[in-house]
Amino acid sequence: MGAPVVLGIESSCDETGAGIVSGGRLLAHVVASSMDEHARFGGVVPEIAARAHLQSFDPVVREALDRAGLGLREIDAVAVTTGPGLSGALQVGLAGAKALAFAADVPLYGVHHLAGHVAADTLEHGPLPDPCVVLIVSGGHTSLLLVRDLVRDPILHLGDTVDDAAGECFDKVARVFGLPYPGGPAIDRAARAGDGHAVAFPRPLTGPRDAPYAFSFSGLKTAAARWAERHRLRGEPIPLADGAASLQEAVADVLTRKALAACREYDVRTLVVVGGVAANSRVRALAEERCAAAGVELRVPPLTLCTDNGAMIAAVGDLLVRAGADPARLDVSIDPSAP
Ligand code: KG4
Ligand code: ZN
Repeated sequence: MGAPVVLGIESSCDETGAGIVSGGRLLAHVVASSMDEHARFGGVVPEIAARAHLQSFDPVVREALDRAGLGLREIDAVAVTTGPGLSGALQVGLAGAKALAFAADVPLYGVHHLAGHVAADTLEHGPLPDPCVVLIVSGGHTSLLLVRDLVRDPILHLGDTVDDAAGECFDKVARVFGLPYPGGPAIDRAARAGDGHAVAFPRPLTGPRDAPYAFSFSGLKTAAARWAERHRLRGEPIPLADGAASLQEAVADVLTRKALAACREYDVRTLVVVGGVAANSRVRALAEERCAAAGVELRVPPLTLCTDNGAMIAAVGDLLVRAGADPARLDVSIDPSAP
């Protein structure tokens, strides 16, 4: 008999994801995003997201099974995100996952969304070294974690953002700059023609008295908005390329500086960067440069595994099944504000 086959379901925000993993290997994964439906509101609308999950759930699961060449009967366990996330969105995924587990008569595992992001990298680069530092940067999170054994040891939260997430900062500044949503990729493109040192944007929470691993991006967002406004008031065009490159430089500087400080303090030789913002060209380049200088191995999974997806949830489920962990009961509930 081969390794157990685990189906993972993700629905915490605007992506409906289904992934199939067996013995640490990714067999298939499919993601449907409702991003376009939120674009004209400039951010994710919970009600729209929940409805989109309801529509996408069946086709996405079916497509993942088809691509893996499997039927529901060949699934040995179902793993699902229980939190944190938007409650309506989480409810849809959990209800669907329960129905699948019940129909296939297999155990159900509840998975913490951030554990999923951490595990995503194992599908590309194999098991994570113990310990490693993980930087999760997306539109919803900016967290620095110390990870040991993902199944047996609790994840140590070194720090989080105290206000906006890094991706949120990109999205909001892009809006002020008149760039489309999602703003991160638009800022990245605009920055190509700019100078990252043209505007001296602040580096929040990097002073000697500040919490070493906490992040804050709302002050940076305001500074970038004021800078754009000053040009507008003077009737000048906004030097978008320089503004975008300088914003990106500030975000990349703060993220990588803190991540490498954590590697140094905890004597960790591996840094994993995941989340949509890991796609940012300057974040990647500066992480590579600073990791190489510090002798730290940098692991960044491919973008499709970096952003929200079902494969990363299946990856955690797969680790839990193989570790003999206790499954959840069918009356397990969502935990939208899971720590
Ligand atoms: O992980 P993700 O798809 O969803 C969650 O937020 O959980 O991340 C989306 C975020 C958005 O804020 C988007 O603007 C940002 O990642 N992003 C980027 C880039 N690509 C996506 N930010 C900066 N540069 C990019 N190239
Ligand atoms: Zn996420």
